[in-house]
Amino acid sequence: MTPEYIIIHQQAQPHIAHVQLNRPKELNALNLQLMQELRDALKMLDEDENTRVIVLSGNEKAFAAGADIRQMAGKTAIDMFNTDQFSTWDAIKKIKTPMIAAVSGFALGGGCELAMLCDMIVASETARFGQPEIKIGVMPGAGGTQRLTRAVGKALAMEMVLTGRFITAAEARQAGLINSVVPQELYLQEAFRLAAVVAEMSPLAVKMAKEAVLRAFDSTLEEGLHFERKNFYLLFASDDQKEGMQAFIDKRTPVFTGK
Ligand code: HXC
Repeated sequence: MTPEYIIIHQQAQPHIAHVQLNRPKELNALNLQLMQELRDALKMLDEDENTRVIVLSGNEKAFAAGADIRQMAGKTAIDMFNTDQFSTWDAIKKIKTPMIAAVSGFALGGGCELAMLCDMIVASETARFGQPEIKIGVMPGAGGTQRLTRAVGKALAMEMVLTGRFITAAEARQAGLINSVVPQELYLQEAFRLAAVVAEMSPLAVKMAKEAVLRAFDSTLEEGLHFERKNFYLLFASDDQKEGMQAFIDKRTPVFTGK
């Protein structure tokens, strides 16, 4: 079925897929259907051998202004428990293919959390990041208190979560939340430029490296180092390791196949 709230460009550029959130009138508010469509699209792309990097964007006005407040407003705690809306988020967390968020305009609440679920964030100068849930009587629920704190540290995370203040792209860059800031007309181009660099690498090595970096967030140093070493060894079972090292010795550009 054609999704209603997202647009999928499977081969936007060689080896790069582009998924665009597309509920513009609601500033891409993340309702349950949008999140299910996004999960299904990302899983499909993750299984596609030709997709090495996924760029996720909204539009110029909004990456996403958060979970859909209208959809949540009347819910009870039991409704929330039964809906299990975080199962889609949990599935997205398991995507092995690297994801780059291209953010312009608002990335708020669940929108900021979705950007943080991506592996890198490229922003337009107009981007605004925030966790304003406190202003509507709740708090972040999709990782905002954890991923934001790990990215920017306690002081700024606490300020953003307790006051709901939005930060600018420049502030987000300085705080280490995002990778780069460019003029608005270039933000998608910059995300694709970064994606193309990653897409040239061995896709196997990229996926295992992503897995190992993410492991740093939920393991001790010893466990993380052990995990890193196993993935490092495992890559010596790949054609890409032989090709990459031989190409270096031959002084030529490697051709990676993902095998
Ligand atoms: C539902 C939303 C929405 C949202 C905007 N809209 N954000 N609808 N859920 N999160 C709708 C508005 O109701 C409005 O619809 C239209 O989008 C345009 O928004 P405006 O407010 O008119 O635009 P503007 O004045 O430019 O203000 C932009 C804004 C503001 C600052 C982003 O919309 C805003 O504060 N939005 C809510 C941000 C927020 O609180 N996010 C956290 C949500 S909770 P109409 O029909 O009136 O034109 C959350 C929890 C995550 O994310 C938990 C895990 C999933």
